[in-house]
Amino acid sequence: MIKRFLSSTAEIPDAPPMPRHVAIIMDGNGRWAKKRLMPRVTGHAKGVERVRDMVEACIKREIGYLTLFAFSSENWRRPQDEVSHLMELFVMALEREVDKMHRNGVRLRVVGDLGRFDARLRELIEQGEALTSDNARLTLTVCANYGGRWDILQAVNAWRRDHPDASEPVDEPGLAPYLSMHYAPEPDLFIRTGGEQRISNFLLWQLAYSELYFTDTLWPDFNAAALDRAIVSYQKRERRFGRTSEQLAAP
Ligand code: FPP
Repeated sequence: MIKRFLSSTAEIPDAPPMPRHVAIIMDGNGRWAKKRLMPRVTGHAKGVERVRDMVEACIKREIGYLTLFAFSSENWRRPQDEVSHLMELFVMALEREVDKMHRNGVRLRVVGDLGRFDARLRELIEQGEALTSDNARLTLTVCANYGGRWDILQAVNAWRRDHPDASEPVDEPGLAPYLSMHYAPEPDLFIRTGGEQRISNFLLWQLAYSELYFTDTLWPDFNAAALDRAIVSYQKRERRFGRTSEQLAAP
């Protein structure tokens, strides 16, 4: 039985003071390295360390879902040697971290168009997901070769394959189980580090009513205190989901 989470557009979800789900675009690794006259890949390696810290910080704060944009569908446009280094980093991170994640109750999910990754990486992803599948403390989703538009299109196409004779168009509850992150509530809080203020084809569907937080802090400098600042900003927001302030104030 698949657990169904409330949809922010079809229903009114609750707005917990501590976000249940934090989604992050980890931007600024390259600039962090450049400022130190280091190669960009050193910035990405530092970025992996911050991923580890963020997993720990979310567990401590009882945040149930952490989703990270590790590699977008458009990141293949980067120089070939940077792409290769990023792939090596993913392999190393999986080889080194999965057992520790498992011991700490982390369920790992990797979503995206994984067919373009090499066999070793796909095998590690499969093994990591299988090993950790029953863990429930924190679900860590890594979006890899992911794009929000890709996700919506693959969901529509999968729905059509399963409903070849449908006479009605697909609706929101019908499509939701086909989206890559159907197993998670919509993000309460979206964070983008590195100073840019855009979504960059991340979770286009799921961010419909997420609170957006942008910071100039570069990802390799983003620590637990920075996460707390984002959470405090989130806690000050009025989450109306289309209603008025007066309606929220009414008993
Ligand atoms: C954006 O910084 C970052 C990326 C495209 C890669 C993010 C990957 C990691 C942090 C490491 C791997 C993560 C996991 C989950 C193992 P940028 O290179 O665009 O920085 P810039 O804007 O300063 O150039």
